[in-house]
Amino acid sequence: MIDYNQIAQAYAQQRQVHPQVVQSLRTACGTGDGVRVLEVGCGTGNYIHQLALATDYLCYGLDLSPGMLQQARRQPSHVSYIQSRAEATGLAGAHFDLVFSVDVIHHVADLRAYFRETARILKPGGLVCTVTDSEWIIRNRVPLSSYFPATVELELQRYPAMGLLRDELLQAGFSGIREELVEFPYELRDAAAFRARTYSSLHLISQRDFEQGLAHLERDLASRSVRCVSRYVMLWGSRSR
Ligand SMILES: C[S@@+](CC[C@H](N)C(=O)[O-])C[C@H]1O[C@@H](n2cnc3c(N)ncnc32)[C@H](O)[C@@H]1O
Repeated sequence: MIDYNQIAQAYAQQRQVHPQVVQSLRTACGTGDGVRVLEVGCGTGNYIHQLALATDYLCYGLDLSPGMLQQARRQPSHVSYIQSRAEATGLAGAHFDLVFSVDVIHHVADLRAYFRETARILKPGGLVCTVTDSEWIIRNRVPLSSYFPATVELELQRYPAMGLLRDELLQAGFSGIREELVEFPYELRDAAAFRARTYSSLHLISQRDFEQGLAHLERDLASRSVRCVSRYVMLWGSRSR
């Protein structure tokens, strides 16, 4: 189990936003008045902060970790942050137009409770979006899986399969379920985010595997940048009206 309170500061400094995720969330919500959006497991607030800066949406971020929320609150924006649990938020019913999460679903112990709770707090016709990694993405991550191959099998055990997520969405009464693949190529020039282990899977592998992978990455970065690609699946569903 990762202690996000411990890594919150490094996370706030190193974590990058995937621009296509933000763009796709905006496209789905449109430009209407009073659009209310909740990010579950918002961590240091990267995504909800970007949405708040770029739109007039009423933005909320929820997370379990007080340390992550403390970092989130440092960013100047009109996001309301709430310390709570994804599976039982304590928030009012039928309140949000969109509930989304990025890189969180593999931490949620009770998927059924989470999707039921999400259906409860969404307005009729509201959208849920789970931004996560499919098996193919995990196997093809660059640089994580290529430099730290011991992460692959551990990640496949940790991440719920797309089929399971689809089933749980259906069970919770969602319809219009669809997957969207987003990709963002970039050049890595610095290993700082890996050195600081801002990727939770780097806390799960042995010290030896971590050091070997880091040394390999740093050696390559000493002579050239490393071409990487950040990928996510955005799994969408709609609450029935
Ligand atoms: C990998 S971080 C992702 C943070 C943010 N979404 C991002 O992409 O930058 C996972 C976050 O989920 C939070 N989290 C894990 N389980 C949770 C739960 N059951 N309820 C609420 N937050 C949770 C953790 O505290 C952590 O901040």
